[in-house]
Amino acid sequence: MKIFLDTAIRDEIRRMAALGIVDGVTTNPTLLKAADAPYHEVIADICKMVPGPISAEVLAEDWEGMVREGRELSAIAPNVIVKIPMTPDGMRAVSVLKSAEIDTNVTLVFSANQALLAAKAGARFVSPFVGRLDDAGHDGMDVVEEILEVYANYDFTTEVLVASVRHPQHVVQAALMGADVATVPTGVLALMFCHPLTDVGIQRFLDDWKAVRKE
Ligand code: G3P
Repeated sequence: MKIFLDTAIRDEIRRMAALGIVDGVTTNPTLLKAADAPYHEVIADICKMVPGPISAEVLAEDWEGMVREGRELSAIAPNVIVKIPMTPDGMRAVSVLKSAEIDTNVTLVFSANQALLAAKAGARFVSPFVGRLDDAGHDGMDVVEEILEVYANYDFTTEVLVASVRHPQHVVQAALMGADVATVPTGVLALMFCHPLTDVGIQRFLDDWKAVRKE
């Protein structure tokens, strides 16, 4: 499973990318607000830091505007993926951009039906928001399971990108289900490294080695 970083904070991306575990980055207008720098400049920097897919979202609500913004975003770097919201206009923009060979990531997906429509429109990625589904009293990972089953039934090539990840267990579940990608906030990625027995083990090795060197 590929791991994307779900942030637009360039220091965080630089630090995590250096570890060799980041396959791509997803951003959205909320995350870009936190980056506190011009939109296109931030996306251009991220594209240089991580060679994999970098999602940048359109702000227009009509398909012509989405296509126009999508072309502009895509011109920033070859690894930009244009993020488009799941609406009828959005799906029209996805199919127009696909015919122009511009890859898209359909965002704000909360059901298997929406994911089916995104695949039919020709999206490269579909982003079910598992954390927001959990918040609304559903089980977000159930929706991911349904999407994976629907896509497998019809050999759709759209990749399932699990988004709105809130904790490491979402990532484990995504990997067990065979999702293509999980996009994780930096804090969740940091937690994925942790296990108390690793810390205890390192301390014991160091203590034992110090004891040997004293002999
Ligand atoms: O990738 C989408 C993600 O950023 C949304 O996360 O935590 O705002 O639901 P959240």
